[in-house]
Amino acid sequence: MWPERGRRFAIILDTVIMRSAPRGSRLVAQQSLLSTALDAACSWGCTGHYREHKRRSGRGLPVERIILGKPSVTTFIAVSNRRGGVGKTTVTMMLAYGLSVARRQKVLVIDLDAQASTSIVLMGHERWHAARQANRTACGLLTEIAQNQAIKYGDFVAHEIGDVKLADGRRPTLDVIPSAHDLDDKEALMMIAQQAFYHKISDAFVQMQERMRQTIRAMEGAYDQVIIDCAPGLSQLVWGALRAADLIFIPYVPDRTAEDNVGWLAERLKVLRLPKFFTVANRVSGQDNRAQGIVSAISNKYPPLGIQIPAAQALANALDYRDQTGTLASKFGSAAQHVNALADAALNAINRPMVMAAE
Ligand SMILES: Nc1ncnc2c1ncn2[C@@H]1O[C@H](COP(=O)(O)OP(=O)(O)OP(=O)(O)O)[C@@H](O)[C@H]1O
Ligand SMILES: [Mg+2]
Repeated sequence: MWPERGRRFAIILDTVIMRSAPRGSRLVAQQSLLSTALDAACSWGCTGHYREHKRRSGRGLPVERIILGKPSVTTFIAVSNRRGGVGKTTVTMMLAYGLSVARRQKVLVIDLDAQASTSIVLMGHERWHAARQANRTACGLLTEIAQNQAIKYGDFVAHEIGDVKLADGRRPTLDVIPSAHDLDDKEALMMIAQQAFYHKISDAFVQMQERMRQTIRAMEGAYDQVIIDCAPGLSQLVWGALRAADLIFIPYVPDRTAEDNVGWLAERLKVLRLPKFFTVANRVSGQDNRAQGIVSAISNKYPPLGIQIPAAQALANALDYRDQTGTLASKFGSAAQHVNALADAALNAINRPMVMAAE
C-alpha cells in the first residue's frame, strides 16, 4: 500500500533533495530535518524498511535509500523455475525463516504447488491436515476466484506457523496459505469458469491470470513480504503468480541443462516485461570448477541475487518439520549463515532502485 499523500510527499522530498543538495555535504546537513519529515512520511506508509530499521537501530537510513526504495509496504516474491527439484521449496523455506525470524519481517507464504511440500515443511502434517479438512487452502481460494466473488483471502491463511521461534521465545509473524493435492483440478475448474465468459481462449487465460494477480495483490499492506512457491512447469497458476510478483527468484542447480532452463524463463519474462528477476545458484560446490563455470555463464547473462547456496545436508534436513519449536541455529545448524545471507540478499533486492533487470 502506498497512500497517495505519502507518495506525493516522497516525490516532493525527492525534488527538494535533487534541487537543493547538489553536494553531499549539504545533503548531510539537511539529514536531521529530513529525518523528522521522513518519520511523518513513514507513518503514512511510505516504506516499511525505513520504519523497521529505525525501530531496531534507533537510526534512519540514508535519505537516498528511502527515496529510491520501492514505493510499497509489501513486496511480492515469486520463486519459480519450470524445472523440478532445483530448490524452489528450499529457497522459499530459507526466505520464510530468514526474513521472519532473523530479520523480523512480517511474512506470508503462498504455496501454489499441488505437491504441497512447502505447506508440510512449514506447518507439519497435523496442521496441514486440519487446514485441508477446513478447506482453508489455496484450493478454497481458487474456488472463490472462479466464482467471481469478492475474495476474502484471510479465510485461507494459517497463522503463526513454522518450527522456529524468535530469540525471546515468541513466534515470528509467519503465516501460510497452504496448498492441497487437488490444486491442479481447481486450476482446470477456474479455466472452465473463465471460458464461460470469454469467446477466445486466450482472453480466458489472460483474465484468469489477472484475477489471480488481483487476489494475490489484495494482501498488499498486510505483510512485509509475500513469498509464493510455484510448482515446476509453467501452468496458468505459475503465470498468475509471476504476473503478481514484484520480484522473481529463479533457483537453479548448476548442471548441464541449467542455462537452457533459466534462459528460457528469463527470456519469456523479459519479453513480457515482467518485473525484476534474479537467479539463485543452489546446491553449489565451491570446489567444482565446472559448476562455477556454469554459475558464471548464467550470472553474466541474467542478474544473480548475489549469493550461492551450497549443497548442505543441514539444508536438506531442515525440510523436516519439528514438533518442538527451536531456534534458527538449532534448525539449520551450520547452514544458518546461508539463511541469513539469503534474507539479506532479498532485502537488498527489494531496496534496489526500480529498474528492469537485464534489459
Ligand atoms: N542446498 C541444498 N543442499 C542440500 N540439499 C538440497 C539443497 N537444495 C535442495 N536440496 C534437496 O533437493 C531436493 C529438492 O529440493 P526442493 O524440494 O527444494 O526443490 P523444488 O524445486 O521445490 O522441487 P519441486 O520442483 O518438486 O517443487 C530436496 O530433497 C532438498 O532437500
Ligand atoms: Mg517445491
